[in-house]
Amino acid sequence: MPANGNSLDIRDEVAQGFEDIFGSPPAGIWSAPGRVNLIGEHTDYNQGFVLPFAINRRTVVALGPRDDGILRVASAFADEVAEISLADLTPDRLQDWSAYPLGVAWALGQFGADLAAVPGVDLYIESTVPVGAGLSSSAAIESAVAVALNDVWRLGLDRPTLARVGQLAENKAVGAPTGIMDQSASLLGTPDHAVFLDCRSLQSELVELGFTRAGLELLVIDTDVSHDHATGGYAERRASCEMGAMLMGVPALRDLGIVDLPRAREVLDHETYRRVRHVITENQRVLDTVRLLRSEGPLAIGELLDTSHVSLRDDFEISVPELDLAVETAQANGAIGARMTGGGFGGAAIALVPTDGISRLQVALDGAFAEHGFSQPTTFTVVASGGAGRN
Ligand code: GLA
Repeated sequence: MPANGNSLDIRDEVAQGFEDIFGSPPAGIWSAPGRVNLIGEHTDYNQGFVLPFAINRRTVVALGPRDDGILRVASAFADEVAEISLADLTPDRLQDWSAYPLGVAWALGQFGADLAAVPGVDLYIESTVPVGAGLSSSAAIESAVAVALNDVWRLGLDRPTLARVGQLAENKAVGAPTGIMDQSASLLGTPDHAVFLDCRSLQSELVELGFTRAGLELLVIDTDVSHDHATGGYAERRASCEMGAMLMGVPALRDLGIVDLPRAREVLDHETYRRVRHVITENQRVLDTVRLLRSEGPLAIGELLDTSHVSLRDDFEISVPELDLAVETAQANGAIGARMTGGGFGGAAIALVPTDGISRLQVALDGAFAEHGFSQPTTFTVVASGGAGRN
């Protein structure tokens, strides 16, 4: 097994890809993982709690410094090499996928990097994080580029700051109004632990998952229904939450608890009330999950995962039939808990399943999806892995 514990190791391939395009070997290789969110969905931009973990699917970046002020980015998944000078780097000039890596370079400038003084770089990027599956392929690119540039530009920024850099790139260069969870998971992850993050203070604690010891595995069920947080539903949900907080007279929904629900029901229209109820109850579920993981272990958290899905489906209304079917099929076939994960409107579900029940569940999922006329889901297990870094 390679040093980073990743059986899908593509580091040699990325070094070769760099050399093929730019004509000399890279100066170094950096990588960052995608993430699964165990629980705490749409709570991050409400300044609440999340519990994601970094997974063993990574984005790998090969980098070579240049002696001018030009940035060039190439990738196995794009035909063209994107090029821009550091002096011209503004969010409105960035487009397509290169907005992620180049947006990070711009965002580092917003966090103190002197873009007039640093050298240009060539970057080559490749990934084993599936795109559009709700596993944060975008945060993996941002975090890998952020740690790479932080090193070669000798910026000395800490990881919580690099997470904010990635978020800023995503918000301004890509145009998706997302929160801080994904980049935090990608930068702060540790093997066999989830990152319990307070999205207001940005303080985090590692919480041991202990899946293996409990005889469990985490199965990702990618529905292949793709989503895009730069358009539509995600921004609407965020706006509803902000409206709800304003009408309730608090800075963010984080400041409300279960005891505030009766007043929220009186003050808010029914739709906003349900959006707010999701966030309030989801924050509580994160706290309960952390407590149960620490006191009893992962076998105790199944019901919280199930309830989270119901809340996302009925109150927040961001599930789709394929995700509901994945969750129901998992629950009916031995999973101790299951829920959609990520921003919703497509993407993946996760199921916590006894190891010896994984293949049975995979067969059941294929059958159920075929029966409903849905295209076959892609299923694979993930393990909690280390965060972004060199190599
Ligand atoms: C996406 C966003 C995150 C978070 C989740 C929902 O993954 O990037 O910031 O809001 O959706 O929990």
